[in-house]
Amino acid sequence: MPQVDARPVAVLVSGRGTNLQALLDAAAAPTYPARIVRVISSRPGVAALDRARAAGVEGVVVHHRAFADRPAFEDALHAALVESGAELVVLAGFMRLLTDGFVGRWRDRLINIHPSLLPAFKGLDTHARALDAGVRLHGCTVHFVRPAMDAGPIIAQAAVPVGPDDTPDVLAARVLGAEHRLLPAVVRWWAEGRLSVHAERVRVAGAAAPDGVLWGPVVG
Ligand code: GAR
Repeated sequence: MPQVDARPVAVLVSGRGTNLQALLDAAAAPTYPARIVRVISSRPGVAALDRARAAGVEGVVVHHRAFADRPAFEDALHAALVESGAELVVLAGFMRLLTDGFVGRWRDRLINIHPSLLPAFKGLDTHARALDAGVRLHGCTVHFVRPAMDAGPIIAQAAVPVGPDDTPDVLAARVLGAEHRLLPAVVRWWAEGRLSVHAERVRVAGAAAPDGVLWGPVVG
């Protein structure tokens, strides 16, 4: 059972929902300081909704195609979020661009996970583009959302090595493993009141820079 005083979080999804699953699993622990109060999908029939149901969390569909325009879609999204009582909104594989109006209403209460070390490789197909660029380290980023795509103050990043024989799928799987650790950690920090934004940079109270360097490739 979640903590009674655990802070309420809503998760926005559009697809398979493995990052949602990581949050649901984390929130099942009695000491986790956040609880998932509602999952909202922009599309019906996605696996993420099954995951919510299996965890006993309310899943609702706010189908973008059911609305005349983006503001109408976002008004419905906003209403569903307010009704849920969520204090934080997590975009976990939510594949709709959000307008300035929506983002402004949830400023510093809206976070996104993106599968690259931002600001590199914004947008789609990040793993194939990282391989094309020949980078040695790739990874994922959790950031507060600002109006531009995949932009906003960075909260945390996790790096993974790029292997010489990686395909986009192999690399994606390695990054996804890192995502599943990073996102629940960031939501925990938020719930513990550790995150603050100063001049568009995030401070994580109690965090220290890890010692040493992370480098790749390793030879010999
Ligand atoms: C994740 O890799 C997430 O980082 C990415 O979509 C995937 C969703 O997977 N998000 C973006 O690309 C946003 N720009 P999931 O549905 O299994 O969590």
